[in-house]
Amino acid sequence: MTAGAEQKRGFIRVVDGMPASDGAGVSLLRVIGTQQLDFLDPFLMLDEFKNEDPGAYVAGFPDHPHRGFETVSYMKAGKMKHHDSVGNEGVIEDGGVQWMTAGRGIIHSEMPQQTEGLLWGYQLWVNLPAKDKMVAPRYQDIQRDGIPEYQGDGIFVRLMAGEWNGIQGASQTLWPVGYLDVRLDPGVTFEHELSESANAMAFVYEGSATSGDRQANSHQLGVLSRGSTGVKITAGDEGCGMLFMWGEPIGEPVAKMGPFVMNTREELFQAADDFRNGRFA
Ligand code: CO
Repeated sequence: MTAGAEQKRGFIRVVDGMPASDGAGVSLLRVIGTQQLDFLDPFLMLDEFKNEDPGAYVAGFPDHPHRGFETVSYMKAGKMKHHDSVGNEGVIEDGGVQWMTAGRGIIHSEMPQQTEGLLWGYQLWVNLPAKDKMVAPRYQDIQRDGIPEYQGDGIFVRLMAGEWNGIQGASQTLWPVGYLDVRLDPGVTFEHELSESANAMAFVYEGSATSGDRQANSHQLGVLSRGSTGVKITAGDEGCGMLFMWGEPIGEPVAKMGPFVMNTREELFQAADDFRNGRFA
């Protein structure tokens, strides 16, 4: 074994989420897609919505378009109803995930199916390479029971996508990415092996976590270094709940305009024109 093989990745950056509002006035915490962290290839956006006050969520996300990437909704608590222009409709309940490939274009709504109590979930945007930006829209609705879980000594992992510890995640992804929900007891270490080139990050939603010599606290995102394969993240004194995500960088130009993410400005204008003229599915 070489010295390099023993080197582990660590947090090189710890970023705070920024309070924001989106949809018809949903209060949320934007973690990726901010001035601090615009983009972490292939991840374009990460939002957390977590609120017990219906006024902060009932208006939801009425009809809006997407083109050129995938939107991933993961519910921790509460219910969200989804409806789209391709004819899909469903309710994502606590513990479920919806992996939607917008591809060449989709118009959808995401509306809370509750008027009281806690609504807690995440939306992650995963970019697509040029060759897949105009694929036919696809929708995977996976309820709690369909998500593989691992229960070990002080560690509980749910696998929404990607492979970890020999277990394959629930969603099919066009671009290779991983998305786990990890709970660790105090002092317990989560480990993973990735390619040297993959980007990886951990969003701590409860407690704290340390990797290398930096700590990420609740509602902070720890961005891991690249250039080595091993990942070790250790929970602090109160334990830790975190979303762990990784993906190979796509490495293409990114042109973003609201709900459209393409490679060039010209393709963005085409997307806006297609949407205005009813050429989305
Ligand atoms: Co949407």
